[in-house]
Amino acid sequence: MTRKPPVLSKPPVLAVEKLTVEFPAGRSGGVFPAVKEVSLQIEAGELVGLVGESGCGKTVTALTIAGLQPEGAKISHGKIRFQGTELLSLNEEQRSRLRGKELSMIFQEPMTALNPLMKVGSQIAEAARVHGASKQEAKEKALSMMEQVGLPDVQRLYGEYPHRLSGGMRQRVMIAMALLNRPALLLADEPTTALDVTIQAQILEVIRNMNREMGAAVLLISHDLGVIRRMCSRVYILYAGQVVESGPVDEVLSRPIHPYTKGLVASLPSLGKRGEKLRPIPGTVPPLEERSGEGCPFYNRCERRRPQCEAGTPPKMEQNGHMALCIDAKEEWGL
Ligand SMILES: Nc1ncnc2c1ncn2[C@@H]1O[C@H](COP(=O)(O)OP(=O)(O)OP(=O)(O)O)[C@@H](O)[C@H]1O
Ligand code: SF4
Ligand SMILES: [Mg+2]
Repeated sequence: MTRKPPVLSKPPVLAVEKLTVEFPAGRSGGVFPAVKEVSLQIEAGELVGLVGESGCGKTVTALTIAGLQPEGAKISHGKIRFQGTELLSLNEEQRSRLRGKELSMIFQEPMTALNPLMKVGSQIAEAARVHGASKQEAKEKALSMMEQVGLPDVQRLYGEYPHRLSGGMRQRVMIAMALLNRPALLLADEPTTALDVTIQAQILEVIRNMNREMGAAVLLISHDLGVIRRMCSRVYILYAGQVVESGPVDEVLSRPIHPYTKGLVASLPSLGKRGEKLRPIPGTVPPLEERSGEGCPFYNRCERRRPQCEAGTPPKMEQNGHMALCIDAKEEWGL
């Protein structure tokens, strides 16, 4: 008689394990990791943040999860399980069937997702048609979603081409497309950066409702730690392609361990301590070809660096779901 497997708790909607994505860079002809051993998980109904300065690998991570990695990208290592299916072993047809229904992405650049030769209404409605809605149903769904994302005069806009819309409107058209089929997972890459404050709040509310009412899991990518603090329950901090800190949002932003996270918090008016002078983190994220293989990725910018930080990869320390990749963690947590 075969024994039944033990009953496990529900698997996460998304489980990324040690994902490494490389690009050719520099004059040497070598390839370098834009994303290095990134692991992250999102449970059903969770809204999770991904934060880091420009060039840290947020978009490459999201595009790779969506199966849309940029040209030249090589996935040299890792697993991406979505609802129990290993995405990296699917073919393009299987992936595109998944995209737009179960798994949707809001792109940082709206034109990436829009067809310039097709009217915006038809594009949104087509997303519903592909998944079985009748022509009339698709149009109604599209118009209703256009209203929900705050587009004005939707009957008229329905018949316009993308180039006739402002950047912010295009962004909202794309968001409507991404949300139309109520995906199980939404990857939202800087969904509101190009929008003015009122519309920003409205879009974030739409995303939050989708998360709360439909149980959609969301990976929210943002430069804005204030937005992350308001919206997310957990956060991953990415630096030079590596997750350097992660955990519950309140814990990570109130008691950051990694000097990079501390720097991000101190550089933001709404998050820094009252009365403390705001200061940007000195230096910049190194380009791919300057990221050395060994040692701490933050070494060159870190005020607390010591010789041992350069010698090998810092230990990954964890306490109550709070993870930090820094030798300071042991001392700060008294481990
Ligand atoms: N197609 C590509 N070819 C070569 N390098 C690339 C390519 N796409 C991204 N990169 C490199 O990968 C690194 C991470 O880029 P990515 O776009 O993921 O950053 P990001 O965190 O999304 O930044 P931003 O906040 O500016 O959107 C960068 O150093 C970038 O130069
Ligand atoms: S491991 Fe060392 S260099 Fe890296 S962040 Fe921690 S203290 Fe700074
Ligand atoms: Mg990006």
